[in-house]
Amino acid sequence: MWRKEFDFVRAFGRDLESRPPLPVASAAELEAHAAQVVRLQDLFALIASLPPAQRPPVGEWDDAVSPLWRRLFAKGDDIDRYTLAEPWYRVLVEAGETDRALRALTGRMASARNFRHYDEALALSAEGRRLCVGRPSGALANLLNTEGSVHYCRRDFEAAERSYSEALGIADLLDDGACRTWIGVDRRTFRGQETFNILCAFVDLASASKGRARALALAAARERRAFLDTLALGGDFWSLTCVADVEMALAEGDGASARTGLTRLDAEAHRGGPYTYSLLATLARLHSRLLAAEGDWAGAYGWVRKALQASTQNNYPAEEQLVLDQAVEILRHLQGGDGARSGRTSEMVGLLEDKDWYTGRSHSRSVSRLATRVARAANETREAGLDVQRVATAGLLHDIGKLRCPWSLLNKIAPITPRERSLLHDHSAHGAALLRDLGVEEPLCVIVEEHHECLDGSGYPNGRAPSMEGAIVGLCDIFEAAVTPNRRYKSPKTREEILAEIRSASGRLHPPVAVEGLARVVERSGERH
Ligand SMILES: [Fe+2]
Ligand SMILES: [Fe+2]
Repeated sequence: MWRKEFDFVRAFGRDLESRPPLPVASAAELEAHAAQVVRLQDLFALIASLPPAQRPPVGEWDDAVSPLWRRLFAKGDDIDRYTLAEPWYRVLVEAGETDRALRALTGRMASARNFRHYDEALALSAEGRRLCVGRPSGALANLLNTEGSVHYCRRDFEAAERSYSEALGIADLLDDGACRTWIGVDRRTFRGQETFNILCAFVDLASASKGRARALALAAARERRAFLDTLALGGDFWSLTCVADVEMALAEGDGASARTGLTRLDAEAHRGGPYTYSLLATLARLHSRLLAAEGDWAGAYGWVRKALQASTQNNYPAEEQLVLDQAVEILRHLQGGDGARSGRTSEMVGLLEDKDWYTGRSHSRSVSRLATRVARAANETREAGLDVQRVATAGLLHDIGKLRCPWSLLNKIAPITPRERSLLHDHSAHGAALLRDLGVEEPLCVIVEEHHECLDGSGYPNGRAPSMEGAIVGLCDIFEAAVTPNRRYKSPKTREEILAEIRSASGRLHPPVAVEGLARVVERSGERH
C-alpha cells in the first residue's frame, strides 16, 4: 500500500541528484523542488503519526531516504535536511534502527551547526551517544566527526580534538565496508580526514595560546602532519595536505612557506576533485590570513570578501562561519571604533544583498532612505529629537545579521515551518552581536536588535517595546517588504493596503508618532519614496 509513496521518495532522490544547486536553479526548478519537499514533509509527518505496526518497512525505506541528507546539503538545501531529518530520526529510533537513526541525527546536527545553534547540535550529539553506549560503529564515528566540527566552529579547539580523536579511534576498529556504508568514504580516507581535522584543531589551539601551551600544540600538529604522510593518501587528498602545510606555516609565523603553499593551492583549486567545493573559500581565507599576519589589512579584507563570496556560492556554511569571524576581525582593525560610518561596513551590506534574495536588490538601502524621511517627519511635528543620521545607518544595517544565516534558510521557497521561522528570527540578535564585535556604537546596535520588536511585547528577540528609532526602522522594513515583490512573497501589497494595516495596529504594535510619520512621508511622496 506504500508503493506510490516509496516510488516518490526514490524519484525525489533522483531529481535532486540531477538538479542544479538551488542558488543557480531556474524558477521552475525551484518550484518543483519546493512541491516535492512539502510532499515529503507531509509524508514523514503521516508515518510518524501512525502506530509502528502500520508504518512501512522503515529500514528498507531508509535506503532511499538516507542519500537525501547529503544530497540536500550538496544542493544548498540545508534547511530541509534539518526539517526532514527530525521526524524520520524518531521513526528510525522507534524501529530500533540505531545506526540509521544516528545517520539522520548527524545530518540534523550538521545543519544546526550551520545555523550557529551549537548548543542544540551538541545536545543532539549527546542524544546520539546515549543511543549507542558501548557499541562503536561507523555511524557513531560519523556523528563524532560532526561533533568535533561543532566544537571547532565555536572555537573550543581542545574539545574538537577530543571528538575527532574519538572518531579516529573507532575508525581503527572498523572495516572498509562499514566506513563506506556509514561514513561515505573508505577507511583510509576517513583516517586521513580525521587526522587533518585534529591537525587543524592543534594549529588553531597554538595560534590561540602562548608559551609552553603553544609549543606543545605546535609539536602535536607536527606529529599529525608526519602521520598524514604515512597514510599515503591519493591525489584528491593532496589539497588537504597542502592546506595543512599552509596552516602550519601561518601558525609558525613562516610567511615564505605559507606563500609557497598558497601558490601550489591556487593551481589545485581549479583542478576539480571531491574537496574543490570548499577549497576556493579556504584558499581565499588563507590568503587573507597571510596578509593580515603581515599587517596588510586592506589586502586581507579584499581576500576575505572573495572567501565570503566563494563560501556562500558553494553552499559551505561551516567555512562561511570561519570566514565571517575573520572578516569581523579584519574590519575591526581597519576602522577602529568608527565601524558603522565606514564604507566597508556598507560593503558588507552589499555582500548580504548578494546572498539573500529576500533582502536582495536594494531592500536595505530603501529601508534606510524611508526611515530617514520618517525620522525627519517625526522631528518636525513632534520635536522627537531623533538622531536622523543614526536612523539612516541603522536602516542600512538592520538585516546585517542575515549574513550569519545560511543561504538555504534565507531563501527557502517552500512554506516555512514554525521552527524555521524561529531560526530566521535569530537575525536581529545576530546583527546586534556582529555590530558589537565590530565596535559599532551601542545605540545603533540596539536599534538593529529591536527592529522586529512590537509595542505590546509580541515581537522578538526580547519581547520588549522598542525605542522610537527601532520602531521607525521596523515599520519602514514592514512597509518596504510588503510593497516589493520577491521570490518568497510573490504578490506585493499596494501602498494603501499596507498603510491601512499598519494604521490599524497603531498604538498596539507601533507607536502612533512613527505611524503618522510614515503615513505623511508615503502620502507626500506619491508614487516614489
Ligand atoms: Fe529583519
Ligand atoms: Fe528587513
